[in-house]
Amino acid sequence: MNTPQLWWREAKFGMFIHYGLYSLLAGEYKGKRTENIAEWIMHDLDIPKEDYRKLANDFTAKDLDLKAIAHLAKQAGMKYIVLTSKHHEGFALYDSKVSDYTSMKAAPSKRDFVRELREACTQEGLHFGLYYSQAQDWDDPDACRDGFGPEGKDFDAYLQNKCLPQITEILTNYGQLDVLWLDTPMYMTTEQSKSIKDLVKRLQPNCIISGRIGNGLGDYMTTGDNFLPALPYPGDFEVPATINNTWGYNAFDPHWKSAKQILKSLVKIVSRGGNYLLNIGPMGSGKVPEASVEVLQEVGKFMEKNGDSIYGTKTLPIYPYDIDWGYFTAKKGKLFLHVFENKEQAYLLNIANKPIRCYRLSDGMSLTLKERVTCEGDSSWLIKLPPREADEVDQVICIELAEDDVVFEPIRG
Ligand code: GLC
Repeated sequence: MNTPQLWWREAKFGMFIHYGLYSLLAGEYKGKRTENIAEWIMHDLDIPKEDYRKLANDFTAKDLDLKAIAHLAKQAGMKYIVLTSKHHEGFALYDSKVSDYTSMKAAPSKRDFVRELREACTQEGLHFGLYYSQAQDWDDPDACRDGFGPEGKDFDAYLQNKCLPQITEILTNYGQLDVLWLDTPMYMTTEQSKSIKDLVKRLQPNCIISGRIGNGLGDYMTTGDNFLPALPYPGDFEVPATINNTWGYNAFDPHWKSAKQILKSLVKIVSRGGNYLLNIGPMGSGKVPEASVEVLQEVGKFMEKNGDSIYGTKTLPIYPYDIDWGYFTAKKGKLFLHVFENKEQAYLLNIANKPIRCYRLSDGMSLTLKERVTCEGDSSWLIKLPPREADEVDQVICIELAEDDVVFEPIRG
């Protein structure tokens, strides 16, 4: 695997945006609801291409404010944004010379959202990424489609006539592209994936490519959607995740995760060495669902005070015990204990480091840490925890160490 840029390794938290014609359907077509992720509705409900294309006539995106979204991402503590420049449906959200099926030419919106996002990211100081569905394109008869093999198709024709030219456009027309997020490689051969990689590295040598380019050619490993590695992972990885159960907007999905659930995932992911790419799915009009805004703002309040326990942290070794009330993150000379339950004290065994100072990260309040060796010969720490603030979902305790790296010792018994 290549080395992703340092900024990406330190960023830890980014925003995914899924927006397209499917957002207008909001999970329902002609009275029938989809049971799958909403951006797959064209495929899952077998909507004929000619009918699906008509959705573009209603695509005004009148409430899509990418400046406000970038600001929301920044407030939430996210460091990069990845927007669907073209999803599996085939409709592009930018001004493409290759196809007229775009938000610029085929829809009343007449806007280039990639350009708008580029500007918004620059304004907020965020890194800029684009998703591009390189294999599936349900509008192009030669591209891949789940459940249908490559037989009878000329995938190379699609690759040469739409995919590579469109990727060239997003790599050349919008300045520095920091991440190219490719997806569902399906039947693509190594040679085909490689033709994309070569193009990216030639036009934007600093652009990072997601693991889903296929054939092991990504710059980092992309996990399954909403799946976290169970253990610390030795390489770079990213977990793409939803806030409810869909990427594209679905009006019938009320299963919003809480800030506590999101922060728990974030902490687990960064302690295992990865990044968390959390999605919002704007409604057809472009408005961001209120539930997403609220939860991201709550996460942002945590990040503002406790960001030091997330950004630039490194992979931890496996802690020998399964504690269900807390998790660790760490960076040079610091161990952070994230306490998710209301507790008066934290009792920890088998940390071999020498603690120098212990305090609550959000306000620097000094805490007492008592070190002891148990009768079994294991080291133990007892930390007296302060009463929780009303909005303190994750109470972060910073323990400064005499050593640079955290060492967990094996259980002696
Ligand atoms: C899946 C889906 C897709 C979604 C993506 C996000 O692979 O096909 O709809 O964009 O995951 O990770």
